[in-house]
Amino acid sequence: MLTLDTGSLAPHLTDDELNNGMHGAIEVLGSLLKGKGPGSDMLGWLALPCLPPRDIEEIANAGKRIQDQSDCLVVVGIGGSYLGARAGIEALKGHAPFPILFAGNSLSPEYHADLLDYLEDKRFSICVISKSGTTTEPAIAFRLLRNRLMEDCGREGCSERIIAITDPVKGALRQMAGTGGWKIYPISPDVGGRFSVLSPVGLLPFAAAGIPIDALVAGAYRGLGLWTREEPDNEALRYALARALLHDRGTEIEVLSTFHPELSWVCEWWKQLAGESEGKEGKGLYPASTVMTTDLHSLGQLLQEGSRNILETFLVSARPNRDIEIPEDSDDLDGLNYLAGKSISEVNSKAYEGTKAAHVAGGLPVMTIELEGITPASIGALFIFYELAIAVSGRLIGVNPFDQPGVEEYKTRMFKLLGKPGY
Ligand code: PA5
Repeated sequence: MLTLDTGSLAPHLTDDELNNGMHGAIEVLGSLLKGKGPGSDMLGWLALPCLPPRDIEEIANAGKRIQDQSDCLVVVGIGGSYLGARAGIEALKGHAPFPILFAGNSLSPEYHADLLDYLEDKRFSICVISKSGTTTEPAIAFRLLRNRLMEDCGREGCSERIIAITDPVKGALRQMAGTGGWKIYPISPDVGGRFSVLSPVGLLPFAAAGIPIDALVAGAYRGLGLWTREEPDNEALRYALARALLHDRGTEIEVLSTFHPELSWVCEWWKQLAGESEGKEGKGLYPASTVMTTDLHSLGQLLQEGSRNILETFLVSARPNRDIEIPEDSDDLDGLNYLAGKSISEVNSKAYEGTKAAHVAGGLPVMTIELEGITPASIGALFIFYELAIAVSGRLIGVNPFDQPGVEEYKTRMFKLLGKPGY
């Protein structure tokens, strides 16, 4: 499914140092699995890959119903209630023929006006996702979209076209869903937003898009088995430990560099997972990302010769889903005939190998996560790999990876400025 290569971390971090630190990482994993340690009331995500087949089938059928009754689905949500769905759908575009649009992830008037214009002549359904049920951005987008749907198909019709994914008991969205008679999928209170992609928060949008969620969950389940082993060859633990040790030695930034643009939203999802989990108490690697080879022509310079406070992790796939051969040209005026007969993926692989060697020579500690392919199973596995690894690295650097006290600060100030009652 995926492999980790830590062979290019030396001299910044040697194999011996990694091997010596493994017992600490294994202990942290053990305490997570026993439900102990900081944030132990938020470990429900560990059970998500074990979702019973009948629940998976139920969600898959809900996805098919959306396809039958609409031209497209608008997924409304932000942060952990958005990024996982977007990441999976963008990565697995080839498996996702049904159009999914996203809303409520910004306060851009242009974006939402354009979206409403686009939906003018469409039959659309809405999947509104908010654990708290009170987040401002999705609440505004949902009000706009709900009003449009109401105009199009009335209160009765709306009840068939709206799905709410929210807290099982409390919150404004839960209450509205009850009153409106909308289908509700609960988000378990012990699953935080950024750890929720393998719950209906991700699975329902995936199913509606056409992604085979049974295969994706099966990949996550297999990954869970592999990366919860309390053994020194556990690659999620090795990745977690390498990050934590480099952090403790002064590395400030981890750049996740992918050579597959379709994985750019996986990078965005990972940024939230890592940033919100570790960025507290003055600690945490700043998670950044690049999409290659595009960014070799911009950020490549900084990665090669800039500040040496960076860890770079490559995220690559061993096998393309589709490929194109570079043709011969009789004139060869562009001098490209030396590549004729090679596929674009071969050239991309060499670009990755060359970049890795250059960045190692430039003095960066480098790791690689290689997927065997970009498939539903490998993406499911990648989700659980990162969740386990970030949970462990967060605890290794000494923070609670499952809270996010800092995200309230801007809200309090914004609400005061907007005149929200009570602020
Ligand atoms: O990971 C998190 O907890 C946050 O990013 C939330 O998912 C985000 O703020 C959206 O919150 P909610 O799902 O309550 O609307």
